[in-house]
Amino acid sequence: MSPQILEWRRSKRLNIIGISAGYHDSACCLLQDGELVAAAQEERFSRIKNDKSFPKQAFRYCLQAGGLTISDVSCVAFYEDPTLKLGRQVWMALDGDTPQGRRDAILDRIVCPRPESIIRRSLGYQGRIEVTDHHLSHAASAYYFSGFPDAAVLTVDGVGEWPTTTYGSGRGRELGRFEQVDFPHSLGLYYSAITAYLGFEVNEGEYKVMGLAPYGNPTLVDRLSKLVQVEPKGDYKLDLNYFDFMRQDRMYSDEFIALLGQPPRRPESELTQFHMDVARSAQVLLEDVLLQKVRYLHSRVPSENLCMAGGVALNVVANSKCLKEGPFKRLFVQPAAGDAGGALGSAAIAHVRLTEGPPSRAKLKHVYLGPGSAPGEVAQLMTSSSARYRDFRNDEPSLIRYTVDRLIEGKVIGWYQGRMEFGPRALGARSILADPRNPEMRDRINGLVKMREAFRPFAPAVLESMAGEHFDLDHASPFMLEVCQVTCRQPLPAVTHVDGSARPQTVSRESNPRFAALLEEFYRRTGCPILLNTSFNMRGEPIVCSAVDAVNCFALSGIDALVLEDFIVERSGIPPLWDLQARRMDMRKQDSGVGHLVYTLF
Ligand SMILES: [Fe+2]
Repeated sequence: MSPQILEWRRSKRLNIIGISAGYHDSACCLLQDGELVAAAQEERFSRIKNDKSFPKQAFRYCLQAGGLTISDVSCVAFYEDPTLKLGRQVWMALDGDTPQGRRDAILDRIVCPRPESIIRRSLGYQGRIEVTDHHLSHAASAYYFSGFPDAAVLTVDGVGEWPTTTYGSGRGRELGRFEQVDFPHSLGLYYSAITAYLGFEVNEGEYKVMGLAPYGNPTLVDRLSKLVQVEPKGDYKLDLNYFDFMRQDRMYSDEFIALLGQPPRRPESELTQFHMDVARSAQVLLEDVLLQKVRYLHSRVPSENLCMAGGVALNVVANSKCLKEGPFKRLFVQPAAGDAGGALGSAAIAHVRLTEGPPSRAKLKHVYLGPGSAPGEVAQLMTSSSARYRDFRNDEPSLIRYTVDRLIEGKVIGWYQGRMEFGPRALGARSILADPRNPEMRDRINGLVKMREAFRPFAPAVLESMAGEHFDLDHASPFMLEVCQVTCRQPLPAVTHVDGSARPQTVSRESNPRFAALLEEFYRRTGCPILLNTSFNMRGEPIVCSAVDAVNCFALSGIDALVLEDFIVERSGIPPLWDLQARRMDMRKQDSGVGHLVYTLF
């Protein structure tokens, strides 16, 4: 062990900062003596959805959460190697088929800042820096937080530096890779091409394709199977005649359009049965290829445990099929499986490099790793405003009862409690909650706040101890990363998808005591231990971060009541100033394209 490490061991904690940035979903985390103590995406602070900029605000938050100054940081780890990425970008530009205009555009966009120089310049940090590779960061973000003593590890995304899919294994502190598929062959890019063809935004609308799929029939699987040729072992190939991401700034080619026989869907236009059939067929093909590759991985790594990461691992329907029909007994998907989670993986790898031992071997139990309100902050917001509010400080049972009364009345509740979640899902800290038994609730929430496509289902949160009685689920699923059939005798129209499935979050007293208490009281009053749980944000906005963000979203939307820590404000109690200021801010944001709250509402 190096003298430097021994010095850290003697004198202070090993504080490793992990950073992902530059492509989408920038994030920062703090690993303290191998324990994950803080993690947040930059978008929550900047209020720019999927913000890819260097996560300075998330970094500042991580220092604050750890009670650190920059001189306490032992190492900063960056999640990918831009020099390797540069090699791929130059290769794309120089490819013989690339038209001159496209080639110039690629070369213009190529930047190869050394992470070292950005970190030193942006953060003013002068200490040790570790750079990892993109897919190794994905793999580490799943394996080192899985709690498994050993596992097979599969990463699948659009593209990192060169790899798009990797196969590996972990045992103890060791994490290795034995095979990979390289760009341009990519299951992530295949799915993104479908996303673009269906008129949704790439890197954002992939969820929508997955949500649309159950409405369709797999009538186009044969045609779509021309896009992806499955090869022996872990390999597969895209037929590049059908894709234009190498030649144009478009994902799919004219041959792709001809293959499907209809023009691409214009964004926001009507969704027809054909579009639904495309989504279903594309999803079936993805699941089939993934399942084959999962079986191959098991033949090479005959563990009972599988870890998955990368953007494609956020396809919960495919994950569930891999677990149900594949050879592995257990599956761990790190909740921020996309690039934001690379921050966790790079920090974990740096920990291994520095200490020659693994980070904490405990399974990641929760993701309440973001900022919460400071003591007294919400009380000050309330008392200094002219809002009519109810104060439940030191009386949680009454707060819970009052909230359940509103839920039973059919009200939609904004629920802001404790530390914010890390990753794309709201899990009872920054959530919108409602009664899942109400058949009108899906349309009502869409009308009040979400403004999202009516076909997309909302998810249920269920008491962990009772999950098996209401869903075909025999294990905890605390991160909403699996789908299963709803088996509840009571209809749950607001959270049940058209194919009878749902994507439940199981909630326990250990992981989120107040949310569990709310579910218990709702169960006591209704016999239903389930609530509709969706993220607390307007369409196109990041999930709310601060109490002021929550007030702002509440004022702008039609949500009926806001539970803000120990206080409750109902819509009738909103002061005119909140409404006015929120609208003013919304206009300013639309003018500037930036949603950062730079003023106070009070
Ligand atoms: Fe990635």
